[in-house]
Amino acid sequence: MLFLDQLRNDTRVQFLHGFLRHPQQVGSVVPSSRFLERRIIKMAKVSQARVVVELGPGTGGTTRALLDSMRPDARLLSIEISDRFVRGLGRIKDERFTPRHGNALFLSEYLDEYGLPAPDVVISGIPFSTMKADLGGQIITSVWNELAPGGLFVAYQFRDRVCSLGTRLLGGCDVGVELLNVPPMRVYRWQKPGNGNGNGNGNGNGNGGPIQPPV
Ligand SMILES: C[S@@+](CC[C@H](N)C(=O)[O-])C[C@H]1O[C@@H](n2cnc3c(N)ncnc32)[C@H](O)[C@@H]1O
Repeated sequence: MLFLDQLRNDTRVQFLHGFLRHPQQVGSVVPSSRFLERRIIKMAKVSQARVVVELGPGTGGTTRALLDSMRPDARLLSIEISDRFVRGLGRIKDERFTPRHGNALFLSEYLDEYGLPAPDVVISGIPFSTMKADLGGQIITSVWNELAPGGLFVAYQFRDRVCSLGTRLLGGCDVGVELLNVPPMRVYRWQKPGNGNGNGNGNGNGNGGPIQPPV
């Protein structure tokens, strides 16, 4: 019984269970490694941000790593589509943290709901490669329009769909690779033009104004 309870509480088992229930939505069999977490945090300049948004926290490994690196006065909004995963996120007790059950597509509504200003960084682990291209384009457009000037959009993905979609909509990006993850993962970063958190080399879309979703 004790062994079964331990298994049930293991976040890796919960993650695998989530994958088996909704493989396309979860998109990965195991959570991100601590090496990938570190790379994401560095590329996203999390320690400098005041408002961080996470899309697809899953069982919360990346969420805890973000909180460990964030300023004491920063805020983290994590949007997760799986109700089971969101229930698990409720175990993270940190007054800087707000878990939200919902779809990344409605980022703008959730920021309003919690009275949060434009995020300095949006970090996404959601699987763009398994969703329809027009939905992926709408999510990227919404992220870009909500980001603060100079803000960073960081997406970690195994496949390059987010790169092609993002490059078409936002312009060029910086790319990092983390081999110490199953599977090895690419981390893409775009910086919105304007003064703010980041100083990456992404080209952005030129003027930092709102963009339209692809048709
Ligand atoms: C690859 S997992 C990443 C989990 C965790 N961040 C990690 O790195 O271990 C992707 C997560 O995105 C969630 N997800 C997929 N589509 C989503 C959407 N449209 N909005 C919010 N969450 C979504 C899935 O339920 C899953 O928890």
